[in-house]
Amino acid sequence: MAPHKPFSQACENNKQPILERIRQTFTGPGTILEIGTGTGQHAVHFASAMPYLVWQPSDRPGASSHCLGWIEDSTLTNICPPVELDAASADWPVERIDGAYSANTAHIMAWNEVESMFAGLARRMHTGMPFCLYGPFSYGGAHTSDSNRLFDRHLRAQAPHMGIRDMDDLLGLAAQAGFRLESDHGMPANNRLLVWRKL
Ligand SMILES: C[S@@+](CC[C@H](N)C(=O)[O-])C[C@H]1O[C@@H](n2cnc3c(N)ncnc32)[C@H](O)[C@@H]1O
Repeated sequence: MAPHKPFSQACENNKQPILERIRQTFTGPGTILEIGTGTGQHAVHFASAMPYLVWQPSDRPGASSHCLGWIEDSTLTNICPPVELDAASADWPVERIDGAYSANTAHIMAWNEVESMFAGLARRMHTGMPFCLYGPFSYGGAHTSDSNRLFDRHLRAQAPHMGIRDMDDLLGLAAQAGFRLESDHGMPANNRLLVWRKL
């Protein structure tokens, strides 16, 4: 039986623009931990386009197997089996990583989970290693579009712990965790690609 492959149209739309950005950051061999992999469409697209990387997908317990269909179907040898990783937990099942990637997770996680994600990465990354974080963000409390404002309202109505994160808050959190913002790229559909570097 063909493996089940959950499909996200947003992933199909954004995977190539994201790839064009992150391949300028993930330039050499190494293991990239993806947090909140979801369907696996990003993992397969990026691992296929950057064969010098080892891609390590992960997601919360209960969600980490969602990407299996895409990964198995791809037959790529540079994607590891997904691991169960809750950013909120101190106990991550990964040892050595050379960089990290996460898309559309910061507005789904509670703020303390976003803090834990940065803290967990900081514990496993050496100076100069990159963390690419993709998604919608606000600046100085202002949304970058009406659609993001509506999306934020929708998220908070669904669950008060969710919501689009503000760059001022992220900059403070990241500095405390030991990351600096290297670059902030505008992306289609009012999203951003933030490149953080471990200090
Ligand atoms: C909106 S989906 C994004 C999925 C995929 N990265 C994408 O861009 O389509 C949010 C993802 O974050 C994951 N997630 C939420 N809270 C998490 C946590 N505490 N630790 C790890 N992953 C988490 C969810 O399970 C889900 O896969």
